[in-house]
Amino acid sequence: MHTHTLQLLSWLFAVASSTNTTPAPTSTTTAAPAAFTYNSTSFLLHGEPYTIIGGQMDPQRVPYQYWRDRLSKARAMGLNTIFTYVYWNLLEPQQGDWMLDDPQNDIAEFYKISQEEGLHVVLRPGPYICGEREWGGFPYWLSTITNLTVRTYNEGYLNYSKIYLEKLASKLAPQQVTQGGPLLMVQVENEYGSYGSNHDYTSTLRDILRQIYDVPLYTNDGTENFTLSGGSVPGVLAEIDGGPTYGFPARDEYITDPSQLGPLLDGEYYTLAPDNWGANVPHQTTVGNPSYVDGFVSDINFVLNASNSISLYMFHGGTNFGLSNGAIWQNYTKVYTTSYDYGAPLDESGRTTDLYFALRNVIQQYVANGSIPEPPANLPLASILKIKLSPMASLFDLGEPTKSSTWPVTMEELGQAYGLTLYEHKVEEDLEGLLLPGDRARDRVLVYVNGKKIGAVDSTYIYPQNLTLTVSSGDKLQLLVENLGRVDYYSPPSHTYNSLLDPYKGILTNVTIGDTILSGWDMYSLPLEKLPIPAENITKEDSPIYYSGYFHVQGRKGNDTRHLDTFINIPNGVKGIVWVNGFMLGRYWIIGPQQSMYLPGTVLKPGVMNEIVVLELEPTNSTMIAQGQAERIWGNFPDPDYS
Ligand SMILES: *[C@@H]1O[C@H](CO)[C@@H](O)[C@H](O)[C@H]1NC(C)=O
Ligand SMILES: *[C@@H]1O[C@H](CO)[C@@H](O)[C@H](O)[C@H]1NC(C)=O
Ligand SMILES: *[C@@H]1O[C@H](CO)[C@@H](O)[C@H](O)[C@H]1NC(C)=O
Ligand SMILES: *[C@@H]1O[C@H](CO)[C@@H](O)[C@H](O)[C@H]1NC(C)=O
Ligand SMILES: *[C@@H]1O[C@H](CO)[C@@H](O)[C@H](O)[C@H]1NC(C)=O
Ligand SMILES: *[C@@H]1O[C@H](CO)[C@@H](O)[C@H](O)[C@H]1NC(C)=O
Ligand SMILES: *[C@@H]1O[C@H](CO)[C@@H](O)[C@H](O)[C@H]1NC(C)=O
Ligand SMILES: *[C@@H]1O[C@H](CO)[C@@H](O)[C@H](O)[C@H]1NC(C)=O
Ligand SMILES: *[C@@H]1O[C@H](CO)[C@@H](O)[C@H](O)[C@H]1NC(C)=O
Ligand SMILES: *[C@@H]1O[C@H](CO)[C@@H](O)[C@H](O)[C@H]1NC(C)=O
Ligand SMILES: *[C@@H]1O[C@H](CO)[C@@H](O)[C@H](O)[C@H]1NC(C)=O
Ligand SMILES: *[C@@H]1O[C@H](CO)[C@@H](O)[C@H](O)[C@H]1NC(C)=O
Repeated sequence: MHTHTLQLLSWLFAVASSTNTTPAPTSTTTAAPAAFTYNSTSFLLHGEPYTIIGGQMDPQRVPYQYWRDRLSKARAMGLNTIFTYVYWNLLEPQQGDWMLDDPQNDIAEFYKISQEEGLHVVLRPGPYICGEREWGGFPYWLSTITNLTVRTYNEGYLNYSKIYLEKLASKLAPQQVTQGGPLLMVQVENEYGSYGSNHDYTSTLRDILRQIYDVPLYTNDGTENFTLSGGSVPGVLAEIDGGPTYGFPARDEYITDPSQLGPLLDGEYYTLAPDNWGANVPHQTTVGNPSYVDGFVSDINFVLNASNSISLYMFHGGTNFGLSNGAIWQNYTKVYTTSYDYGAPLDESGRTTDLYFALRNVIQQYVANGSIPEPPANLPLASILKIKLSPMASLFDLGEPTKSSTWPVTMEELGQAYGLTLYEHKVEEDLEGLLLPGDRARDRVLVYVNGKKIGAVDSTYIYPQNLTLTVSSGDKLQLLVENLGRVDYYSPPSHTYNSLLDPYKGILTNVTIGDTILSGWDMYSLPLEKLPIPAENITKEDSPIYYSGYFHVQGRKGNDTRHLDTFINIPNGVKGIVWVNGFMLGRYWIIGPQQSMYLPGTVLKPGVMNEIVVLELEPTNSTMIAQGQAERIWGNFPDPDYS
């Protein structure tokens, strides 16, 4: 242990109430078997061998009213354990502003329901979780704190991480198996070896977690030597993700510290992959790809036949509701869709799929006959015929600017987490040349001159569109910048640029036309947290327009209060955002592959008018409609803004 670790620990733990220093589980015998522990080859639950047949499902991606339905289907597929990431940015969206009482953030309730459904759980609290989520689960405000660096041995970062982990533990520690709950294990960081190798950092996280939990800790890393060496932590069980046939031997080859060894768990066995926006990016699915399923069946057999453990990532993906998706940095910003269907056994809307039954058949060969319940039937989906949408307000009906300054500032400097920022400049001289909205504005810039849309400069392309502008003194130049999701992952060392340390959105550097730097900017934060007040008349031009429409849904028969789910699509829409009854579903974008948005019945109100609001960022002249469909659509179309 380094000297500065000792210094940091002394203040990190000064305020801790407990001095519990539970050692890593060992094979030493004790009078009563520990609730959950392991020896060199087996997990042991109350002294009996326990093979983890797990699957991932994150509570914050699934409407909480549906948790029980999804969990009962997990049990009915043969799973015995649910792996859960927790997203810090939803628990603490603004610094010190805790949302622990939001039922959607009530992870303890999720764990209680898991237990009632016959499942154990594993907690993966991060603080960084990757997960194709906004900035890997970090709240945006961490980026505004001076001298704070994430994912390393940094005082400010560890301070805030400790507060977060303790707040979460105040809810979840009573759910541990040692206290009669379902929680078996807690993960330290997340695939940290793919990012770094600062063991002072990960050891500090380990010690924070040891103070608040008494179940075993584990790490989970890719199967290279550098990922396992970088990510494993002394005294913490080291596990792998990816393919088990090469991953298990890699764990045993590269992990040599006995305090990190134990039974084998493939902590993320990928049952397919998430979708990215892109005109040429098809939806990930096993439908029509039987070889994928054959591969899954063979790998699961390989793991379970040897009595090793596995967690399917994902069992059920769910939805990046609102603006909560992340992105990957690959010399351009590769953005995840609102849907996190993942091609998983339980689809985005919680329906069992052919893949579900294929995997259930494999698992059934390894558990006692009759011990897996029958899967509940899928509820039907509703169709809502065309809903006419009428213009409601213009996005460019602006009040006072949030800030005015000589040079543009980032979204974060405006105190803004998500959404859009409008940068407005009054042209002072006649200019002609290439418009550069700063060096790779983040992420997608719609360009207007005197209210007319000129084009889009979009950082989701490795080569964004080049826009040449001719403007005259007195013209109004507007740059509407959309945050498409902060980067949650890039892979060093192949990408040397550390995009996790650079999560800023909006315009980061000076805007130029040709060689001229434009000075004098009014900036308007448009976080889209509230719906607009309907306007008397709507400024047309090319401003993004809010549309609204109303529809009825049928209640269900008798005392069944569940409402039917549907899939919303906006047939004439180009790119925008949809709310139903004030709940932000997420984004649509004509390029696909996502063409419809999951509308959970939990949002609907039978017997009264339901309101749908659509913010279309690039209104065309067509009539806007929304429709609810029982069958969802995937597909791709060319990007009208990129030729
Ligand atoms: C670990 O536990 C399993 C299950 O009880 C047992 O079969 C095995 O022999 C134990 N291994 C060691 C090294 O104690
Ligand atoms: C940030 O770090 C620098 C260099 O260590 C130090 O001089 C400065 O006081 C720090 N600022 C804050 C606000 O902690
Ligand atoms: C971290 O927390 C400690 C203890 O509360 C405090 O003394 C210290 O100033 C904090 N440091 C930073 C950088 O926030
Ligand atoms: C793995 O990497 C470590 C650290 O670089 C090195 O000491 C070790 O020899 C490597 N192991 C193998 C099996 O290559
Ligand atoms: C399971 O393992 C045994 C050896 O332990 C082997 O004979 C058998 O073929 C394996 N079955 C599968 C499906 O891999
Ligand atoms: C990203 O850019 C760097 C520097 O131009 C280059 O070396 C690297 O190969 C690029 N990576 C990808 C994935 O395009
Ligand atoms: C379940 O029952 C079938 C048919 O009776 C039998 O072949 C199979 O071995 C049993 N599986 C287990 C795990 O006991
Ligand atoms: C924009 O111009 C650069 C530099 O000439 C070029 O590399 C890039 O391909 C152009 N982008 C498009 C979309 O044509
Ligand atoms: C913008 O340009 C001004 C004038 O050249 C310069 O002082 C300033 O540092 C630039 N800002 C950025 C972020 O590059
Ligand atoms: C539209 O609204 C503006 C104020 O927002 C008002 O000045 C204007 O007269 C209105 N036009 C019509 C045709 O009602
Ligand atoms: C709903 O009504 C049925 C009979 O119609 C009854 O069996 C059932 O218990 C009721 N469920 C609830 C939750 O009240
Ligand atoms: C929009 O539609 C109207 C009615 O069909 C038509 O008169 C008008 O020219 C269209 N405008 C554009 C810009 O296409």
